[in-house]
Amino acid sequence: MKLSQAHATQSCTADNAVEPNFLRTHVDVYFRERVEKTWNGGHIMHGIAPGEDAIMLVSNDYLSLADRPEIARAQIDKLADSDNTMVMSAVYLHGENAQDDFEADMAAWMGLESSLLCQSGYAANVGLIQSISAPETPVYIDMMAHASLWQGVQAAGLTPRPFRHNSASHLASQIERHGAGLVIIDSIYSTNGSVAPLAEIVDAADRTGCVMIVDESHSLGTHGPNGAGMVAELGLQSKVHFVTASLAKAFAGRAGLIACSDRLRQFIKYNAFPAIFSSALLPAEVAGLAKTLDLIRDADIARRRLHANATYLRTALDELGYNVSDSQSQIVALEAGAEQQTMVLRDALEARGVFGSVFCAPATAAKRSLIRLSVNAALTHDQLDHVITVCGEIREMVDMANWPSTKRRQRSEDAGMASRAG
Ligand SMILES: Cc1ncc(COP(=O)(O)O)c(C=O)c1O
Repeated sequence: MKLSQAHATQSCTADNAVEPNFLRTHVDVYFRERVEKTWNGGHIMHGIAPGEDAIMLVSNDYLSLADRPEIARAQIDKLADSDNTMVMSAVYLHGENAQDDFEADMAAWMGLESSLLCQSGYAANVGLIQSISAPETPVYIDMMAHASLWQGVQAAGLTPRPFRHNSASHLASQIERHGAGLVIIDSIYSTNGSVAPLAEIVDAADRTGCVMIVDESHSLGTHGPNGAGMVAELGLQSKVHFVTASLAKAFAGRAGLIACSDRLRQFIKYNAFPAIFSSALLPAEVAGLAKTLDLIRDADIARRRLHANATYLRTALDELGYNVSDSQSQIVALEAGAEQQTMVLRDALEARGVFGSVFCAPATAAKRSLIRLSVNAALTHDQLDHVITVCGEIREMVDMANWPSTKRRQRSEDAGMASRAG
């Protein structure tokens, strides 16, 4: 059954409230323009359901820790514990407790003074930016920064001054025009796997007296000494005011974090709206995260395997002619461009047992939809070789040669050749 038919059936049989016209009209645009016209009644996110042998490149569990029995055991033990009654906002936490201990351990590992556990990476970013800024604060945000960071800017009522993706020089010229403010970036960008020139951007922020915020969702656990992240790897802790992260990536949990000075933590904890007005994680969740931190510190072998797997896949896809040059990490994007073209790509991959994540508007620009392949440490060479064989096989079928991203690659190679010749 098509999605639009399922929707119609559901609203006929259930006793739903009548939609006033303004709501109906608003929602109709989505069903008419996207579901019917662009996706032909299906949904771009979902092709066929994966079978048992499917190679899943959808999960952000980069170190393949999610199924580790030690984490489940820590959660089960805590659930069985009678002291499991913390069902409230974290502002009411008082006295010795496991959440404070976990926050202290995370901060020590990352080489920062303090940290604050949040309900999600989204809540961390929105709450942080909302609480630390006044409406007149200038805010410089990388054009490709995660949506939750943009939401924080919006929640604070700030006027964003976006700078070109990964351009420290454009950032510097924006700061020169508008004055010191917040500088907001991701360390690794979730749509295409590009890596921030962290040292240069932090330097531009530091020289001009800005506040530096780095979202390390896709590098905490996977990069740096014992997985402590890229800020730690480059020794930039004294110049970065806030490191934020989703703990739903390498930590394979459901939480977020803000790491910073103790003074700023105290401020955010009692001023960020998600920290005040939304309940804390439950003790069993904190116990699972604490065990995961132990595993992550000791996961050098998994980290090496992850990076080797990512390099292997990126190199092979590049040789096949895919434009994966933006990626220097475990996130690799096949950018088909138009949504219909991405659906063709999705179907071709899935029919051959390869499942990635569809990214389309609002996660990408309208004509830059893509399939994201997230590499993990547990992938075997046979599995990676299967992915590579499939990507080779389907190139014509998915019209790879005519994707805008392929043409961009061609133009940049031509320009490189011309400049070398000149
Ligand atoms: C860079 C980045 N920041 C923040 C988030 C939000 O994290 P969470 O899923 O924990 O809310 C994500 C998740 O997609 C992300 O990729």
